[in-house]
Amino acid sequence: MECIAIINQKGGVGKTSTTVNLGAALAERGQRVLLIDLDPQGHLTTHLGLDGEAKGAGIYEVLTTDMPLASAIHLRSPNISIVPAQIDLAAAEMELVSVVGREVILRDLIYGAAWPFDIALIDCPPSLGVLTLNALAASTRVLVPLQPHFLALQGVGKLLETVSLVSRRINPGLTVAGMVITMYETGTRLSGEVIDDLSAFLESARNTPVPWSAAKVFDAKIRRNVKLAESPSYGQSIFEYAPRSNGALDYLALAEELAVMLAGNVAADPVDGSETRQSAQAAVANYRAMPTAPTTAADKLPTEALR
Ligand SMILES: Nc1ncnc2c1ncn2[C@@H]1O[C@H](COP(=O)(O)OP(=O)(O)OP(=O)(O)O)[C@@H](O)[C@H]1O
Ligand SMILES: [Mg+2]
Repeated sequence: MECIAIINQKGGVGKTSTTVNLGAALAERGQRVLLIDLDPQGHLTTHLGLDGEAKGAGIYEVLTTDMPLASAIHLRSPNISIVPAQIDLAAAEMELVSVVGREVILRDLIYGAAWPFDIALIDCPPSLGVLTLNALAASTRVLVPLQPHFLALQGVGKLLETVSLVSRRINPGLTVAGMVITMYETGTRLSGEVIDDLSAFLESARNTPVPWSAAKVFDAKIRRNVKLAESPSYGQSIFEYAPRSNGALDYLALAEELAVMLAGNVAADPVDGSETRQSAQAAVANYRAMPTAPTTAADKLPTEALR
């Protein structure tokens, strides 16, 4: 199972919309999708109308008690299952402070069983705390949604450095798949400039030993579309709410581009096979050998290149 963390510590950039609608687009394409809500705001859970069912059997219980992950998986539609979150997840960060191996709880649960899903998408909170670290430790790839305005790149250095740290110390198989431009205003000069800057930065990392050396700005851009903003109030994905909207088209294009990327990599590097399992085992070994758990990034930030 491919596992993708949708992260950006900046709030309101389209993480949840991307998790829900990219997931729904992949499901439209016949993939069996697991969506994990790792945000105490529980927006993914609400977006897909699962609030009521989530009580007592969600990600909080899985991370903080002996509840098996399977007990917290709710079937939403034939191809979409969800691990929901409630506000009580906010307490998890505190409760896990003294737990040894707190960053790898989710990873161990996911790799502890064979799941009937092709892909899992994890919606992260707008922070780089222990919940996001759990997502990064459990994932094979990272997707970064960002809005192309003048502060968009602020914080990307810190984000990438956190990914780099997790990749070095816990999850050597972790790579950044790319940046997804959200709330895109076609034809504005600023959007173009931000995207050019970002592409140049990623280009400068080619053939360097960083987890984003193969990352790209996805060609599929998610245009600003009011239907995407309306659909959460109805508890629906864009494909249920407005299947012919630009929002649906854009997320389908993104799903297509991602599927091509994943298919390309499967041939060279089978992510669902023993290599992933081995690297997870190696990661556990690395983790146990670590003197201290990684909580904050320590190295030099690659921010100069990002201005
Ligand atoms: N392409 C879009 N066009 C119009 N509105 C959008 C689009 N994408 C997201 N939105 C809206 O923008 C708001 C923020 O999006 P979203 O909740 O997905 O961001 P987020 O990064 O998950 O936020 P948070 O950091 O709080 O978790 C929401 O109201 C959402 O409906
Ligand atoms: Mg969100």
